[in-house]
Amino acid sequence: MTEGFKEKLGKGGFGDVFKAKLRSGPSVAIKMLNKSKGNGQDFINEVATIGRIHHQNVVQLIGFCVSGSKRALVYEFMPNGSLDKFIFSRDENTDFSYEKIYKISIGVARGIAYLHHGCEMQILHFDIKPHNILLDENFIPKVSDFGLAKLYPIDNSVVTMTAGRGTIGYMAPELFYNNIGGISHKADVYSFGMLLMEMASKRKNLNPYAEHSSQLYFPLWIYNHIREEEDINIKDLSEEEKLIVKKMIIVALWCIQLKPTDRPSMNKVVEMLEGDIEDLEIPPKPILFPDEK
Ligand SMILES: Nc1ncnc2c1ncn2[C@@H]1O[C@H](COP(=O)(O)OP(=O)(O)OP(=O)(O)O)[C@@H](O)[C@H]1O
Ligand SMILES: [Mg+2]
Repeated sequence: MTEGFKEKLGKGGFGDVFKAKLRSGPSVAIKMLNKSKGNGQDFINEVATIGRIHHQNVVQLIGFCVSGSKRALVYEFMPNGSLDKFIFSRDENTDFSYEKIYKISIGVARGIAYLHHGCEMQILHFDIKPHNILLDENFIPKVSDFGLAKLYPIDNSVVTMTAGRGTIGYMAPELFYNNIGGISHKADVYSFGMLLMEMASKRKNLNPYAEHSSQLYFPLWIYNHIREEEDINIKDLSEEEKLIVKKMIIVALWCIQLKPTDRPSMNKVVEMLEGDIEDLEIPPKPILFPDEK
């Protein structure tokens, strides 16, 4: 099936991704899913639903193939690749300004809000992370790989938990512990919070190379700074940039609250990001594990 697909874009938890060109013109990304069970009818039903989803901030699924036990999904091609390249970059050319990062964060929030509250069924992503945010030619962010959690709830995942799939570092605590609250759209809010925190700091939340052990886990370290009204001294920021960063961090801290009920909905997150920083309350200190209480 992949004959003629020369350019491999990457490999993820579900299978390989190739670049191809449709006869009608546009380039596409084809995701070959790992071997799956069933006759393909479930797959077709599910994909037909996902194909009806349209939003500026979600990657458009344009088709699919089923051939024997092989399955593939065809998506619009995103020329600027995934967000991780840009936020963890040490290269001047791919280093985004904070204004751009802030705009991108709002786009991502809108995309997830749409999946949760804006389309005919509620779609929970369960794997929000920088690699699953793709950028089009104008750097408009698009959430990718939504619906796969439902299509592929079993085995061959990056991280398999009894509750489902996801990526360590972005997975909500209720996916590990059963005494915090049920699993809902708030699990995606948590992952978005971790992503937003990384966008605000342009670094991984967990930094094993931190100079001080207090900086090891960024969200806790930054919380103390925000609460004490200390300056956030990440690089040389202008006053305006400091405000943007602070706003992103406060919203992120709300999103990563331990109890799902304490986290805002994605609609609320969009509102908070777009609104005035003065309207935001400082959230309670982030607790990492339920037994820390
Ligand atoms: N529509 C697309 N346009 C351009 N590149 C894409 C597209 N979809 C995926 N890619 C590229 O292919 C790579 C692999 O994607 P894939 O989604 O399989 O893995 P992942 O995002 O790293 O992990 P996961 O399996 O958890 O989603 C990504 O890093 C991305 O850069
Ligand atoms: Mg992906």
